[in-house]
Amino acid sequence: MRTVLLASDHAGFEMKKTLLAHLESRGFDVVDHGTHSTESCDYPVLAHKLCEAVKHTGCTGILICGTGIGVSITANRHAEIRAALCFTELHARLARRHNNANVLCLGARMTGTELAGAIVDAFLETRFEGGRHQRRLDMIQQRT
Ligand code: RB5
Repeated sequence: MRTVLLASDHAGFEMKKTLLAHLESRGFDVVDHGTHSTESCDYPVLAHKLCEAVKHTGCTGILICGTGIGVSITANRHAEIRAALCFTELHARLARRHNNANVLCLGARMTGTELAGAIVDAFLETRFEGGRHQRRLDMIQQRT
C-alpha cells in the first residue's frame, strides 16, 4: 500500500479534505499533517512539518495553500525536497518524469477540486525517467 502525506493551511483545508477522500477511495494510505480547520494559520509551519515527514519516510507529499506559491517556496528550502507547483495534469506528469518531484503543491484558490484530483492522480501514477534528468538533478544539489 502506498502512503501519501498531506498538509495545507486554512486556505487549502477544504481541498485537503476532498483530496484525502479521493486518495483513500483509490486505495492509498493517507497521513494528514494538518491543518485541521479553516482557522487562519501560517503555511510555512505546515509545509516544514510535511517536508520533514517526507524526508523521514520517503513518501510522496502534497501541500496546499491559497496559491500554492507559499508552500512551494517553503518546501524548496529543504535540500531533499523537489516541490512542484502544478496547475495542469501535464505539469504533474513532467514534474515526475523530468524533475523527480517528491512534493506536489496545489493552489486551492486557483485550481478547481475536480482538476486537483486529476493532477494528483497524474502525479502519483507517473515515474521518473532518470538518464539526463538525473544529471540535471545532481547539478541542482551541487548548489546546496
Ligand atoms: C493565505 O491567505 C495565503 O496567503 C496562503 O494560503 C498562500 O496563498 C500563500 O502563498
